[in-house]
Amino acid sequence: MDDGGCSGGWPGVIRKYRKFLPELPDEHVVTLLEGNTPLIRAYNLEKELGGDISIYLKYEGLNPTASFKDRGMTLAVSIARARGSQAVVCASTGNTSASAAAYAARAGMKAYVLVPKGKIALGKLIQALMHGARVLGIEGNFDDALRIVREIADKRGLTIVNSINPFRLEGQKTAAFEVCDVLGRAPDFHALPVGNAGNISAYWNGYKVYREHGIIENLPKMLGFQAEGAAPIVRGEVVESPETVASAIRIGNPANWEKAVKARDESGGLIEIVTDKEILTAYKLLASREGIFCEPASAAGVAGVFKLHRKGFFEKGALVVCTLTGHGLKDPDAPNLVCELPPTVKADPVAVLGALDA
Ligand code: F0G
Repeated sequence: MDDGGCSGGWPGVIRKYRKFLPELPDEHVVTLLEGNTPLIRAYNLEKELGGDISIYLKYEGLNPTASFKDRGMTLAVSIARARGSQAVVCASTGNTSASAAAYAARAGMKAYVLVPKGKIALGKLIQALMHGARVLGIEGNFDDALRIVREIADKRGLTIVNSINPFRLEGQKTAAFEVCDVLGRAPDFHALPVGNAGNISAYWNGYKVYREHGIIENLPKMLGFQAEGAAPIVRGEVVESPETVASAIRIGNPANWEKAVKARDESGGLIEIVTDKEILTAYKLLASREGIFCEPASAAGVAGVFKLHRKGFFEKGALVVCTLTGHGLKDPDAPNLVCELPPTVKADPVAVLGALDA
């Protein structure tokens, strides 16, 4: 049995939220004690906006493989193994592959991952390799990779662990539970990036489940943000060659398109565009003003909140939660876009003093 070595501490999302999740006998749980990530008040960003709304950051970069994917992967891999599957497969812009590889390793299963060649952040590629996955770089984009995964999975008896696997989204909804557990209510708005479009509906379902059980009274409006060059849902059509600096959400034909639209419409929210420039501004601001380093895609939700705030979208006193989906260390190249490399100084105190404030 995999109890994650936890005795009396946080037991991972399956055991914590068991009564809201599909049934799974305890001996089949595969866990790295994911979840229980901090909800951090963004006092400095609030000030930046004039202090009329409250902003909380759900820092999902502090999961075991440093992204929100672990919440769904614990359930998807546990159930795959419980059903006798020997191997999992996924297409990925990076984070899903890192998470799938880690949980498969923990479960003693094989992981196969297809990534767009040369288009995923280095840290994520290294994770998948280190966890022992068979990684293939596809000469195409994420959408091509996912199409191939759908075609080959059955032929080889592989379990798909992309978010078209329903257990992924079931697990991911636990993040909404945690937000409510901390706040004692649901936020007024929940903002997050939209790529393959699973997470927005996972959160929405989580909030709905908590309301059905009488744990919360209100429901948030879901605010999804796509990058300008990869915004199929906003534009209402597939984007053949998606482009954005936020490689995690460089997706032109999201698998969970309808589910995301449903979450948007049922909640009375919206899905809008943010530009790469807006994403990078929020990315830098989070790191330099709040001490929170997320990857560029993760900053899309915050960028969107800034944009909406400028338009006077929020009522005074609104409570807004933004999910920061992945850790900044995953993408060591992106900071080059917003920071200068440090100058070199002679190993001499006078030279150093002279350079400190230059
Ligand atoms: N943020 C990050 C850091 C991601 O890795 C992803 C998706 C998203 C946001 C978007 O979430 O797909 O549920 O709308 N990454 C997937 C992957 C596609 O392969 O790692 P979504």
